[in-house]
Amino acid sequence: MLATLTLVIAPSLAATDLEIVGYCRSYVVRVLVITGAGVSAESGIPTFRGKDGYWRNLDPIKLATAEAFARDPELVWKWYRERRQHIHNVQPNAGHEAIARLAQRAGEFLLVTQNVDDLHERAGMAKTEMVQIHGDIFLTKCSHCDFSYAGRGGSPEPPDASAVEPESGRLGSIAPTSESDGNLPRCPECNSLLRPGVVWFGEPLPARETQRVENYLQRDSCGVVIVAGTTATFGYIIDWALRASRRGGQLIEVNPEETPLSRFATRLVREPAAVALPRIVDQLIN
Ligand code: APR
Repeated sequence: MLATLTLVIAPSLAATDLEIVGYCRSYVVRVLVITGAGVSAESGIPTFRGKDGYWRNLDPIKLATAEAFARDPELVWKWYRERRQHIHNVQPNAGHEAIARLAQRAGEFLLVTQNVDDLHERAGMAKTEMVQIHGDIFLTKCSHCDFSYAGRGGSPEPPDASAVEPESGRLGSIAPTSESDGNLPRCPECNSLLRPGVVWFGEPLPARETQRVENYLQRDSCGVVIVAGTTATFGYIIDWALRASRRGGQLIEVNPEETPLSRFATRLVREPAAVALPRIVDQLIN
């Protein structure tokens, strides 16, 4: 796609030459954006490690594990149902919208989000330009076989309402999103427990999604890398940001607090994402 976000190089020549040179020397700006829970904080979704992260005095990091699910699947499902309902009730913020705008104007674009909510998508991000590296909270998958089912928000209909078997509650319980639906969903294929389609601590990242990131990084470096609202706890987040900006690209960190990535950034923006991102994107686009 012809560059809509261009960097003009040599301002010293006459106007007509400049346009030609500018046109010739303009670069298709490849952009990588990496986001974390901080980007959804201003929509009212608690972050993981922030003071508002605890649920019923339970540490989310202790809840989001296969061990916790094995120990008390009802409790874990209660937590995810409440989060699904909460996410369903909130809206994307100006930070999500700014990233979607940048995606439309960049030469090449990829968003890698650690967030399992659907706010980037609801802000207009195309799934083809986005990788949910820690999964999707609205996906329900079997803890044993490959069965999975994608629902959205408060009370999505099961795949085929007429197939619900009230007495066994099998299909009926495929997508329990309302808090009152206390029973545990079971797989219609193998009757094992169904679980939320997110990546829990200690679990490997989804191979297909990781490969999409690798393909994007291997194709070329990026002129602009934005890392917003994440503690950059995981090494792969820092690795992807540094590899993307490896040929002198801008590495912009948007976070009110310092992170392990800060010392590598070419620009530090210590502001909330919904405030900073619209301005940064305007500067990049205009
Ligand atoms: N704007 C920008 N950044 C913010 C804002 C805001 N309004 N509010 C908080 N932050 C920053 C915090 O300073 C912190 O650095 O967002 C970060 C949130 O950090 P975490 O809660 O650790 O979330 P995240 O980095 O996304 O966690 C990564 O770890 O817990 C797992 O799987 C989970 O995807 C998650 C991953």
